[in-house]
Amino acid sequence: MLSIKANFVKNKIIKSIDRKAKIMEIIKKSTDLQKQIIELKKSGKTIGFVPTMGALHNGHISLIKKAKEDCDIVVLSIFVNPKQFGPNEDYNKYPRVHEIDIKICEEENVDFLFLPDEKTFYDEFHLTYVEVEKLSNIHCGKSRPGHFKGVTTVVAKLFNIVLPDKAYFGKKDFQQLIIIKKMVNDLSFPIEIIGCPIVRDFDGLALSSRNKYLTDEERKIALKISQSLNKAKEAILKNEKDASMIYDLILNELNNVDGLKIDYISIVDDKFLESVKTISKNTVILIACFVGKTRLIDNLHCEEFLN
Ligand code: PAF
Repeated sequence: MLSIKANFVKNKIIKSIDRKAKIMEIIKKSTDLQKQIIELKKSGKTIGFVPTMGALHNGHISLIKKAKEDCDIVVLSIFVNPKQFGPNEDYNKYPRVHEIDIKICEEENVDFLFLPDEKTFYDEFHLTYVEVEKLSNIHCGKSRPGHFKGVTTVVAKLFNIVLPDKAYFGKKDFQQLIIIKKMVNDLSFPIEIIGCPIVRDFDGLALSSRNKYLTDEERKIALKISQSLNKAKEAILKNEKDASMIYDLILNELNNVDGLKIDYISIVDDKFLESVKTISKNTVILIACFVGKTRLIDNLHCEEFLN
């Protein structure tokens, strides 16, 4: 007979072997995944979903970890969505590194990796789009017409396949997060949207799959973006609440940097993304810049440090 303590240790070992031994399933067909999810939901399992375009980094890993904490089953999708790229954007050269991504998902104990085929995921005669008006045409939407319509269309389609209880998005794409929350609310998707903190490199650069495009020199230039946001944070903490002063401070930091072109700097509220005059806890500072040919975004949400 095993003692209570020995039994406890044995059960713990079995549980950990179980977890390690569980093999991740890679699914390519939407209906195959949907069928399995419906069965799992019937047996009471909760589903966490991490939609991605691949080239996974620590930002994505933080979303997986949060989903693992919250839900019984974690589904991650990798799909470079052609509908969210403009004609002159980086759709063709977007990094596709499936072998590395699969390893990362296995290590992080993702249960289902959904890898739909880029050519057949949308029906040949696809005609249906989801668009969140107003919010989709400002800031990044102004510079990238049609981008958010592509994002909401693919996310709505993925939600209908994965049927998640919770879905996880990084706050680096702040506007995307707000738009998806609005879509879910307006169209009554029974899904909780969880925004997760920006993950940064050791020196402050916000992690992004597009950082892969940067040369060493460009990466140094790109750092100026997070540095300008840090300066803004310092000024706000010293009680500068005038949004135009903070705007000028950031502009000053970024304006004459060789190799960097500002797309926009916006100081807005965190619900409708409209300009504010006075900085408060509900303010977010959004920045988009080109470093060489690479478009990078970053932001500072004042609720992280203001009461
Ligand atoms: O943030 C992304 O990676 C994409 O926009 C998303 C949400 C996976 C939709 O293609």
